[in-house]
Amino acid sequence: MRVIIKPDYDTVAKWAANYVVYRINKFKPTPEHPFVLGLPTGSTPMGMYQELINLYQKRKVSFENVVTFNMDEYIGLKPTDHQSYRFFMEENFFKHVNLKPQNIHMLNGMTKDYEKECRNYEKAIRQAGGVHLFIGGVGTDGHIAFNEPFSSLTSRTRVKTLTESTIKANSRFFDNDVSKVPTTVLTVGIGTIMDAAEVMILITGENKATALKHGIEGSINHVWTISALQMHPHGIIVCDKPATKELSEQTINYFMDIEKNNF
Ligand code: GLP
Repeated sequence: MRVIIKPDYDTVAKWAANYVVYRINKFKPTPEHPFVLGLPTGSTPMGMYQELINLYQKRKVSFENVVTFNMDEYIGLKPTDHQSYRFFMEENFFKHVNLKPQNIHMLNGMTKDYEKECRNYEKAIRQAGGVHLFIGGVGTDGHIAFNEPFSSLTSRTRVKTLTESTIKANSRFFDNDVSKVPTTVLTVGIGTIMDAAEVMILITGENKATALKHGIEGSINHVWTISALQMHPHGIIVCDKPATKELSEQTINYFMDIEKNNF
């Protein structure tokens, strides 16, 4: 696993965006052979999306031949609901770049048939040739996408019930009213994410320090689902200094040293 430690949120966002651009450009995507990107929502990736838009406007990257799959969606929220992940993605990224609408994939939280929706999502990822780079954030309890503690580390796209802690954390997007937060979601599984050729997780802020510690220094276990990244052959964590607060000096020095001359 690579761990990139940057001083603050902005430098994490810039590093992540530049890495995505580097990967897309190196791949030289075409309509027949598109680059497949897995995408997250949340406050952590917002800076990366902003920077990706900047780089697109500066013509450093094109999303014309990029296919996207988002990680998750709330059940029961319409795409026009401001708290839906679909709305978030449209506002913060999709409408600002040249992604083709038919290349954008998001789970439909309004579906009547959840199992079919999830099965079809997995099928669509396979048909696209698999995800080349899956980007994610992390919850304070170590969840990636909506794979709450005790999710199977081999899980696939499915319905999940949110924990009280996630409902509370996400209520900040719902007028701080926990009763407005949907309790169920559709989410890709840990297995779905781990199937990607590369996985990049962004972790910023002191409130994520415990999750980062368990992800890097802890054992692989289903309590902290981020720890599954230790099994991935090409896992990257990009974090800021405050998030490293609970890491040992030795771990921090190791990664600062080994990454000092890398992209
Ligand atoms: C939600 C999302 C996750 C995200 C997490 C942390 O639970 N489903 O994908 O990583 O929130 O969000 P934030 O970046 O806002 O802290």
